[in-house]
Amino acid sequence: MKTIVFIWFCLLSGIRSNSELEKMPEKQVAPVINNLEEFQQNLPGYLNTSNKVAVLLDYDGTLAPIADNPSKTKMPVELEAILRKIAKHPEVFLAVISGRGLKDVQKQVNIEGITYAGNHGLEIEYPDGSRHDYELPTEIQKNYTNMVKELKEKVEKNGAWVEDKRVSLTYHYRDTPVELKDEQKVLAAEICKKYGFRPNQAHEAIEAKPPVNWNKGEAALYILKQKFGENWAQEVSVVFAGDDTTDEDAMRVLRGLGRSFRIASDAQIQTFADFRLPKQAVMTDLLKWIAGVYVS
Ligand SMILES: *[C@@H]1O[C@H](CO)[C@@H](O)[C@H](O)[C@H]1NC(C)=O
Ligand SMILES: *[C@@H]1O[C@H](CO)[C@@H](O)[C@H](O)[C@H]1NC(C)=O
Ligand SMILES: [Mg+2]
Repeated sequence: MKTIVFIWFCLLSGIRSNSELEKMPEKQVAPVINNLEEFQQNLPGYLNTSNKVAVLLDYDGTLAPIADNPSKTKMPVELEAILRKIAKHPEVFLAVISGRGLKDVQKQVNIEGITYAGNHGLEIEYPDGSRHDYELPTEIQKNYTNMVKELKEKVEKNGAWVEDKRVSLTYHYRDTPVELKDEQKVLAAEICKKYGFRPNQAHEAIEAKPPVNWNKGEAALYILKQKFGENWAQEVSVVFAGDDTTDEDAMRVLRGLGRSFRIASDAQIQTFADFRLPKQAVMTDLLKWIAGVYVS
C-alpha cells in the first residue's frame, strides 16, 4: 500500500512539474516585423474596435532613439504626433514605463492622458494625478543612501557621474576616456553589489536596482490590474514594447496574454517577446498600426 501511495505521489508530482515547465516561457529568437504592413499581416484582428487596447511602452531606445546624453533624447516628430493622438483616444490606455525617475520621464514625453511609471515602475502616476509609490524597506533605504555616497566618492570622476533617483540609480560613464571605462564600471558594479543592489548593464551606464521583488513586469501587471481589474487579460488587448533586458521582465509576464515587441538589431537575440523590431524607427509603424485601428 505504501509503495502504491509513493508511486502515485511521484506520478502526481511528476505531472505537476511537467506542466509547470510548459507554462514557464522560454526565450527564443523572435520573428521580425519591419513595417506597418507586417504588423497587419502578423497580427490580423489582434487589435479591433470591439476590444480596448492597453499600450505599455519603454521610453529610451523605444519611443526615442538613444542619444549620447540622456538629457538630449527626443522622440521623432512623426512618432510624437501619433502618440499624442492615440493618448487622447478613450479606447486606448497608454502607459510609459521607464528606468528614469518619474519626473524625468514625464518631462521627456510631456503628453497628457498617459500613465507614467518611473524607476522601473517603483513610482507610478496616473493621468488624474494619483500616485503609487513602492516603499523600500528601511535597511535597503539606508544602504541606498550609503551606496550613493560611496559611488560619488570613488567612481564619480573622469567624466562619470551618479544619477540619484531616490530608490534606484544610474552610473553614467559615456564621457569617461575609453581606457578608464572598464575599471570604473567594474568598481561601480562591485560597490552596488556590496550594498545588496543589482547592477544591470545599460547603454554606457550601469543601473542599480534595489533587491526587492519589483521590476517592469510587476509594474505592468500592477498597472493592468489597477486599470482593468483582475481579469484584465480578458478585458483588453495588450501591446508592450521595449529595447533592453529590463523590458524582458514585462515580456515574460505578458507571454500568451499580450503581444510584446523587442527592439534589437541583433537578429539572433534571445527574447521573451513575440516579435523583434530591428530598429527604433519601426516604433512609428507600431503606433500607426494602433492608430489605424482605433483613431481613423
Ligand atoms: C478582437 O480582439 C480580441 C483580442 O485580440 C479577440 O479575442 C477577438 O476575437 C477580436 N474580435 C474580432 C471581431 O476580430
Ligand atoms: C546592506 O549593506 C550591508 C553592507 O554592505 C550588507 O552587508 C547588507 O547585506 C545589505 N543589506 C541588504 C538588505 O542587502
Ligand atoms: Mg530602453
